Amino acid sequence: MDKVYGVMLIGCGHIGEDHLADIYYRDNIHIVAVVDIDDKRAKLFQKKYNADHWGTDYREFLDLPELDIVIIATYVNTHLSILKDCVAAHKHVLCEKPIAATREEGREFYKVAKNADVKVLVAHILRYNATYEKICDLIWNGEIGELKVARMSQNHHALNWPRYKRLLEDCSPILDCGIHYMDIIQWFTGSKIREVMGYGTTVDTDLDPGVVNYGMIVMRLQNGGMAYYEAGWGQTFSSANVKEFIGTKGRIRLTMNAQRGTDCEMGDRIELFRLSTGETETINVQCKYKDMYRQLCGLIDMIEGRPTRAPDIEQVYSAFKVAVAADKAVRESANVIVEDNW
Ligand SMILES: NC(=O)c1ccc[n+]([C@@H]2O[C@H](COP(=O)([O-])OP(=O)(O)OC[C@H]3O[C@@H](n4cnc5c(N)ncnc54)[C@H](O)[C@@H]3O)[C@@H](O)[C@H]2O)c1
Repeated sequence: MDKVYGVMLIGCGHIGEDHLADIYYRDNIHIVAVVDIDDKRAKLFQKKYNADHWGTDYREFLDLPELDIVIIATYVNTHLSILKDCVAAHKHVLCEKPIAATREEGREFYKVAKNADVKVLVAHILRYNATYEKICDLIWNGEIGELKVARMSQNHHALNWPRYKRLLEDCSPILDCGIHYMDIIQWFTGSKIREVMGYGTTVDTDLDPGVVNYGMIVMRLQNGGMAYYEAGWGQTFSSANVKEFIGTKGRIRLTMNAQRGTDCEMGDRIELFRLSTGETETINVQCKYKDMYRQLCGLIDMIEGRPTRAPDIEQVYSAFKVAVAADKAVRESANVIVEDNW
C-alpha cells in the first residue's frame, strides 16, 4: 500500500486554501495540523479540511511522529525561519515562492535547502500546469524554432486590497509574481537571463513610501533572446494576462480558458503559428491552473527517489537571482546585470 503522508499547513490564507482544497481528501494524504497566527483562520481550516490539530504556533506540532511534510504558505519574510525549524525537525518542506524578499535571506534559504537531510521543494506551480508543460514540449520539439521573444503581462485587479497591501510590504509584484515567469523563460529556453532593465511606480495612494506596486521589465537572455514582463497589483488595475512566445520559425500564443471569448469548456487555448505553412493550429488543453496535488506528488517523488519535473534548488535560486535583479531595476529605474556568484 502507498505510504500515507502526514501534512501540516502553515498559513491558512489564499494560497494555503488552494493547497489544502486539492489534497485533503487524497488517499495518500492525512492532514495532521493547520496553523495560522489568526486563530479564526486556523480553526476554520481544521473544520473544513478535517485536520487533527489546529494552532497559532507551528512549533507545537513539529515533533509529531505522524508529521512528514510541512507546507509553508505564510508571508515571504517568514519563509526562511520556518524552513530552518522544519529542517531541524527533519520534516520535508513544500515552501511557497519566492524563497525570500531579500538577497541575504534568499542566499541563506538556498544553503539550508541544499544541505538539508530532508527534501525541500519550492512551489513554482506553473511547472505542474499542463498547458505550460505542453508549450515547453512544443518549444523543445523545435515547433517555433529558437525562442527569441517572450511577451508576458500579469496584472491583478486587487479586490481584497488589505491582503495585497500586506504582501506588498514584503516584496514588489515583480519579485513575488514575476519569479514564476523568470523560471518559465529559463525553463523553456535552457538559457540564463543575464540582464534586466526596469521601471516601476506606485499607483495606489494609500501605500507606504517605497512600496512599488507596478513594474515593467525587459530581460536579456544569454542566447540573445529577450522577454518583457509587466506586473501590477492595485485597486484600479484590470486583470490582464498576455503570454506570447515568438521564435525563428513560428509563435505560440496562450489564452487561458477564462479569457477565451468562446469555447471556454475546451480549456486553455494554445495557438501555434508555423512559418513553414503560414497556418495556425489551435491546441486545446484541459488544465487545472494550480495543480496543487500534482505539485505535492512531485515532492513525494523526490522523497521516494523518483524522477520529477520539479525545478531543483539550483533552478529555483537562479530564478530568485533574476527576481532580485529585476526588483532592483524597477526600484531604481536601472539596467541591472544578474550576478551569478552569490
Ligand atoms: N504559487 C502561487 O501561485 C502563489 C499565489 C499566491 C501567493 N503565493 C505565495 O504564497 C505566500 C502567501 O501568500 P497568500 O496570497 O496566501 O497570502 P495571504 O495573506 O492570503 O495568507 C497568508 C497567511 O499566512 C498567515 N501567516 C503569516 N505569518 C504566519 C506565521 N508565522 N505562522 C502562521 N501563519 C502565518 C497569515 O495570517 C495569513 O492567513 C506568499 O509567499 C505568496 O507569494 C503563491
